[in-house]
Amino acid sequence: MQDKINAALTHFEKVMREQLERVERINAQKDFIDYQSLDKIIIGVCGGDGIGPVITNEAARVLKYLLDKDVKAGKIEFRNIDGLTIENRAAVNKAIPDDVLAELKKCHVILKGPTTTPRAGDPWPNVESANVAMRKELDLFANVRPVKVPDQGIDWTFFRENTEGAYTLGSCGVNVTDDLAIDFTVTTTEGTNRIARLAYDYARKNNKGKVSIITKANVVKTTDGKFLKLCQEVAKDYPDIETDDWYIDITTAKLIDEKRRRDFKVFVLPNLYGDIITDEAAEFQGGVGTAGSANIGKRYAMFEAIHGSAPRMVKEGRDKYADPCSMLRAAVLLLSHIGYQAEADKLEKALDICMYEEKKLQITGRDTGCTCKEFGDYVMATVESLDK
Ligand code: IPM
Ligand code: MG
Repeated sequence: MQDKINAALTHFEKVMREQLERVERINAQKDFIDYQSLDKIIIGVCGGDGIGPVITNEAARVLKYLLDKDVKAGKIEFRNIDGLTIENRAAVNKAIPDDVLAELKKCHVILKGPTTTPRAGDPWPNVESANVAMRKELDLFANVRPVKVPDQGIDWTFFRENTEGAYTLGSCGVNVTDDLAIDFTVTTTEGTNRIARLAYDYARKNNKGKVSIITKANVVKTTDGKFLKLCQEVAKDYPDIETDDWYIDITTAKLIDEKRRRDFKVFVLPNLYGDIITDEAAEFQGGVGTAGSANIGKRYAMFEAIHGSAPRMVKEGRDKYADPCSMLRAAVLLLSHIGYQAEADKLEKALDICMYEEKKLQITGRDTGCTCKEFGDYVMATVESLDK
């Protein structure tokens, strides 16, 4: 038994050293990049796997239209980054092949289609998720996920911590013996402070009035306890904003309570809870296919759908009916992030018209509705009509 404990301790020592090095890195980080001061903003476009390329293509097409003037003026460059496919990742047995990572690091922001996350039993090696790896490699610590259903008074913005919690060492757990498996959950001081500050700054800037801190600190006392305490400390710097805190279980219940759920505005929460609850939240808006997501760091940012690559749709030959709205919403977030707010507002308006108001075309994910390309054309035509 002792040799097994020793092997686990050696592993634990290694992950602790790596995490302490990470803490030093994030403590030393500078401020956010200023896009306006750059000569040129480079936007990388990665199609990903499954339905990824078809939906990403629609979002890239609208972005290129909206940014055309500045592309021609040399202020914006689009770069296709192929190669972030499950086949390539499997071939080199890495979450992100080195050459693809090098290309990504030459960009400022990335529009990324969903990538297949292998799991035990798949034909692929069980490598780490490309999403999770990219968030870690580029230190994209904030996963910002808006959900709104105007006629039900729902207007939520989730600030999901994106590099810590159960995800940091999600591929680094240990099977101490055949009968005992242990995973790790990580909370760091700066990792929590930076997401909390971003959530409160957003709430202040957008007059949201309230931030809800979501944890399970009554049970997961050390890591969630630290997350809650640090967020409450940050809250003291924002006396103009109301703060409350909830446990994740009751939060999932309150989101379906029609009377109470409108009171929620901005949420700040650890990684895994944020993952779970943003799928639930997106369902009120029309499903995960309608929700975009911003992964924000100080140097890089990546914009994507909140859902996966939908291999089942591809297998059943339905990929051409995939909903591009998640990636189009991600494009709205991208435009706003790099300072093109008027273009972001225009695309958001066009999407609201196509998805909720006019609804000339319906996406159903199968041949009972329109295709991804047809919906993309509809959004493009609506954007163009707003220009007239
Ligand atoms: C998400 C996805 C990812 C996650 C998967 C694909 C690894 O579910 O972006 O929410 O768990 O974060
Ligand atoms: Mg998810």
